[in-house]
Amino acid sequence: MKNLVSLCSPSHHESRLRELLLSLLRETFTEFFPGCQLLPFGSSVNGFEISGCDLDLHLELGENEKEDLMEENKDTEEKKVTVKDISGDNRGEDNEELEEGASPEKDGDELDMQVTAENESSDDDDDDDDEEENIAPGLSLQGLSHEEILDVVGRVLRQCVPGVHGVQSVPSARRPVIRFQHKTSGLRGDITLNNRLALRNSSYMRLCSDLDPRVPQLVYTVRYWARVQQLAGNPLGGGPLLNNYALTLMVIFFLQTRSPPVIPSLIRLREIADNDTSQVIDGWDCSFVSDGTQCPASENQQSLSSLLSEFFSYFSSLDLHSNILCPRDGLLMPIPVSSPPPTWTEGFRMGPLNVQDPFELNHNVCGNVSTRIARRFTTRCSAAAKACRSPIFLLRSSSRPWGVNLLIQPSPSEGDKAEGADIAISIGKALLEDVFAAVKTVLVEVLLCGCKQDSDKDGVGVKSNEETAHVVPSVEELNIEDKGAEVKGENMGEDGIKNERKRESSDDIQGTSPKKRRIEEDGSDLVADRQKNVIEKSPCKKGNPSKVHKNQQAEGALSMRIDVWHHIWEGRRKVRRSMQGKVEQGIKLETAVSRALSAGTQEGGRPIMQITATTRLGTDGSAILHFSPDSDDYGCSATFFHFLKIFLPRMVENVLSGKD
Ligand code: UTP
Repeated sequence: MKNLVSLCSPSHHESRLRELLLSLLRETFTEFFPGCQLLPFGSSVNGFEISGCDLDLHLELGENEKEDLMEENKDTEEKKVTVKDISGDNRGEDNEELEEGASPEKDGDELDMQVTAENESSDDDDDDDDEEENIAPGLSLQGLSHEEILDVVGRVLRQCVPGVHGVQSVPSARRPVIRFQHKTSGLRGDITLNNRLALRNSSYMRLCSDLDPRVPQLVYTVRYWARVQQLAGNPLGGGPLLNNYALTLMVIFFLQTRSPPVIPSLIRLREIADNDTSQVIDGWDCSFVSDGTQCPASENQQSLSSLLSEFFSYFSSLDLHSNILCPRDGLLMPIPVSSPPPTWTEGFRMGPLNVQDPFELNHNVCGNVSTRIARRFTTRCSAAAKACRSPIFLLRSSSRPWGVNLLIQPSPSEGDKAEGADIAISIGKALLEDVFAAVKTVLVEVLLCGCKQDSDKDGVGVKSNEETAHVVPSVEELNIEDKGAEVKGENMGEDGIKNERKRESSDDIQGTSPKKRRIEEDGSDLVADRQKNVIEKSPCKKGNPSKVHKNQQAEGALSMRIDVWHHIWEGRRKVRRSMQGKVEQGIKLETAVSRALSAGTQEGGRPIMQITATTRLGTDGSAILHFSPDSDDYGCSATFFHFLKIFLPRMVENVLSGKD
C-alpha cells in the first residue's frame, strides 16, 4: 500500500509541467480578466494526486473584477490586441519560459523536450475553430450568464493558450465546466467558475491526508481498487460510477468511525479551530482547523492491512440504501431521518448510495450513482473482504498475486472466466466409473480437495474423508521442513484470519478439511483398499462393459463438485525433490507433498476455487474429464488445470493399477 502511493504519484517532471501550464493559464486569464484568480483544487492539491489526474481549476472573477472589467473596457478599446498577437509576442515570463524551453537548472532536459514539442504542437492545432471570432482582452462580462462567461473562457483557452486543444464547454454539469487538454503531455484540465466550496473541501481533504499517514495510503489503495473494479472514475465526468471525491469521502468517513477514530470528524476539527478561522461559503459553514498539528494524534493503532480488510467488510455488510454517511458528524444517519428532519434534507437527493457532502450539506455526492453500481460496490467489497481474509492474502509468492495485488487484479467478467479444460485419461480395461472414482480419490486424498459427487446414484463414489483416513505420515512425522511459505505479515484485525476457521458444514462438502483427517494408526493403505471396495461395489463390474459404457453415455456424464483449498500445484517439484527417498514414490509421496504445501495455510470461508468435473467417454474410448470453474476468485484455475493435465492421468493410472 505504501508502494502504491509512490507508484501512483506523479513524477517531478509531471508536477512541474502542471505548474508551468497553470502559470501560462494564469497569465493569459489575467490579461483578459484583470484581478481574476485561477486556483487549483481537487487531486492536484488535496494530497491524493495521481499521475495523469486532471487539473481542476477554479476561476474566480468576483463582482469587483467584473465591474473593473467594465471600466477597463472603455479605456482599452483602442489598444485591443488580436489573438494572434497574444499567443505570440504578448505572453508573460512563464510563457516565455515555456516557449524557449525551460532552463536546464530549473526543469531538466526532459522538460525542455516536452516544452519544445508543446510549442511545435501549438502551431499545428488541427481541431481549433479558426472560424471563431477573434477575442481580445478588455471585453466586458457585465450582464453575462455563467454559461456565457464560460463560453468566453473557452474562447480564451482555444485561441490564446498555446498547446491547448479539445476545448469543450459542459454547461449541463452540476457545476458548468470548460474542459481542455494540453496537447503534448495529454494533461487534461477542467475550469469551473466561482467554485470556492471545492477549494475548501480540497483543503479539508489535504488536512485529513496530513493528519495520519494511513489516510493517503488507504485512499490511494481504495481508489486504485475501485478503478480496477470499474466502480469509480467516470472518465468523462458524468456517469453512474462513483467519483473520486465521493470515494475519498467514504474512506474518510470509515476512518472517522473506527474505534478509536483514526481521524476526527469535521465537527471535531471545527471545535479545535479558533473562532477567527470561521468561514462561510455560499451560506455553508466551512470552518475547520487549518493547522493539523493542533489535533491530538490518533489513539487508533490498527495496521494498514487491518484497516483495509475492515473497510471492505464494513461496506460489504452496510445497508447503503437505508443510511446516509455523514462525514461532517462522523455518523451514520438512518433513513428515514429523525423527525423533525434537519433542514438540509430538503433538496438532498436520496439514492442507492448516500454520502453527504461535509460542507454543502444538501448535496449527496453519490447522487449520480446507479442502483447497479451501488450493488456492484457491495459485491466487490464483499469479494475483497474475502480476499483479505484468505490465507494467501499474506502469503508471499513470486508466482501469483498476493496482498494488495490480489485486490487490484481486474476482476474477470463472465466472458473472461477461464474456459475450463478437457483432460483425456486412457482407461484400458477399467470402467468409466472406476476412472471417475479414481479421479475423485486423487483429488480428495492426494490433492486435499473437498469433493461432492453429483450423481452418486449407485454408490459408486468413494467415501468421504470423514469416513476414511490418511495413509501417509504427516509432515511433522516425516520431519521434513515445510516448504510451503509461512504466513507472514500483520494481524488482519477483527475480520482476519481468526475468522477463517469458521467452516462450511462438512455435511455439505465432504472431506473439505485435511486437518480433520486422521492418520490411520496401523498405517494401512486405505486408498488401495478403497479402490478395491469401489471396484467391488460397482454394479457395472459384472455386466458387459460395452453395454455399461453405452448406458453411461445415454444417462449423461458423471459429475462432481470440487473445492480447492490450497495452492498445491505451486512449488510442488521442489518439495517433491526434498522428500524423495524419504517417502515411497507414487500416491504416498504426492500426498505428503500436498500436505507439506498446504501446511501453514488455512481453510476457511470460501475455497480458492470451486470446480465442476464431469466424466464422459471419448470417441477413442478414453475417459474425458471436463473441468470447469464455478468460482475462481484469484484467477488460478487455468494454472490448476494445466497442472492437472500432467498430474492426473499419471496418478489415476497408479490408483487404477493398484500400484500404491
Ligand atoms: P474528483 O471526483 O475528480 O476528485 O473531483 P479528485 O480528488 O480531484 O480526483 P481525480 O481528479 O479524479 O484524480 C474533483 C474535485 O471536485 C470537487 C472536489 O473539490 C473534488 O476534489 N467536487 C467533486 C465537489 O466539490 N463535489 C462533488 O460532488 C464532486
